[in-house]
Amino acid sequence: MPSEFSTIIEPFRIKSVEPIRFTTRAHRGTALQDAGYNLFGLRAQDVLIDLLTDSGTGAMSAAQWSGMMRGDESYAGSPSFFRFEAAVKELTGFRHVIPTHQGRAAERILFSEACKPDDVVPNNTHFDTTRANVEHEHATALDVVIPEGREPATMHPFKGNVDIEVLEQALAGPAHVPLVMVTVTNNSAGGQPVSMENLRAVRAVCDRLGIPMFLDACRFAENAWFIKQREPGYGHKAAIEIAREMFALADGATFSAKKDGLSNIGGFLAMNDDELAARCRANLILTEGFPTYGGLAGYDLEAIAVGLREVLDEDYLRYRVRSVEYLWDKVTAAGIPCVSPPGGHAVYLDAKALLSHIPPGEFPAQSLCVELYLSGGVRGVEIGSVMFGRTLGDGTEEPAAMELVRLAIPRRVYTQSHIDYVAEVVAAAGANASSLRGYRIVEQGPWLRHFTARFERL
Ligand code: F0G
Repeated sequence: MPSEFSTIIEPFRIKSVEPIRFTTRAHRGTALQDAGYNLFGLRAQDVLIDLLTDSGTGAMSAAQWSGMMRGDESYAGSPSFFRFEAAVKELTGFRHVIPTHQGRAAERILFSEACKPDDVVPNNTHFDTTRANVEHEHATALDVVIPEGREPATMHPFKGNVDIEVLEQALAGPAHVPLVMVTVTNNSAGGQPVSMENLRAVRAVCDRLGIPMFLDACRFAENAWFIKQREPGYGHKAAIEIAREMFALADGATFSAKKDGLSNIGGFLAMNDDELAARCRANLILTEGFPTYGGLAGYDLEAIAVGLREVLDEDYLRYRVRSVEYLWDKVTAAGIPCVSPPGGHAVYLDAKALLSHIPPGEFPAQSLCVELYLSGGVRGVEIGSVMFGRTLGDGTEEPAAMELVRLAIPRRVYTQSHIDYVAEVVAAAGANASSLRGYRIVEQGPWLRHFTARFERL
């Protein structure tokens, strides 16, 4: 609860710790060379502060760990499944709850059952795995975020919103649209929230045309908190009520429990359509497992059931969103251009603005990622042309709309002094910006190249 004092503190104390390892700049230089300048290729032990992702990297609570001891590992009909299913239904209200090992498994199953070649799937902004799973079905993943969502410096309270006009144009086109997706919060466009008003508008368009609406709900609780803070009429509502209202507007959802499930693994696909759910369950059995465990252990289902309730604790959400904003405050005060306002789970540095001397074809955000690691042992992730650049028919590359470095904050893991250190490293990289150089890809895979590509410094 808010108190008479203004300092927002971590709403937990630390019971168990793990050491982090200090390395020298020379050691990190060698590690980078070995990894082909791809930070995904590093050994985590060589990273001091790991902001690669907020996914699966959070600290679980004592209640979650004790829930895990209760995990029942029956192949079929485990009580752990029913506790998981009850927690998901209590939150989302969806009739069918299909556990998956993580979010992308839910995406693969949904799109392989719902999409046909040449279909179009609109989404405010597809996350990389979501886009890849749509494209894997030879369908088109169409981003329909509002223009502000592509402009790092433009302030807007709900920068993740869908551009309703652009969505309507897409739906009026000749292509079949099997479903419309809305990602809350919009990760690829800066962890930005979607307003309830916008969700209602998408719902109205979908209703008019009889098209199902799905949420990519990975960060639903952070989105609900932003609605409470910023949307007129929601300030007095509880985060749980707001989250339920978001889910009630949709026909289904994909979810990665590694984010707002406060768990290290897991996810689900949920929906109301009986016939589609039956096909998705059959698909699940083929690759993930029986429908009462879906590729998870019984103890994972228990951790998620507890996590889904804990994440809506308002003291937690207040601390969570404020601690991300705290890093943004420090970094912007040091003159580093960022996506503004800050997102719910990460601060996104604008490498296109900071390193304007490096053209997008030479991956400025990759260059900044390498610098943060080399100088301070901080690992972020490139969300720019390495991740979203596209090779065109003539072999040339179309760059991504933005060149961002995402510093994602794991949940309940780092303290304020860790974040103070990160801000110092970022400020130093900013001071050193003019000396940074671009990169060239020397090796890449056919899908999701950013995970495995190797680079050469130019
Ligand atoms: N959708 C969104 C919006 C995501 O951010 C992610 C994962 C997924 C789907 C896929 O979930 O990883 O459980 O298969 N995002 C992580 C990240 C990996 O670093 O942002 P998953």
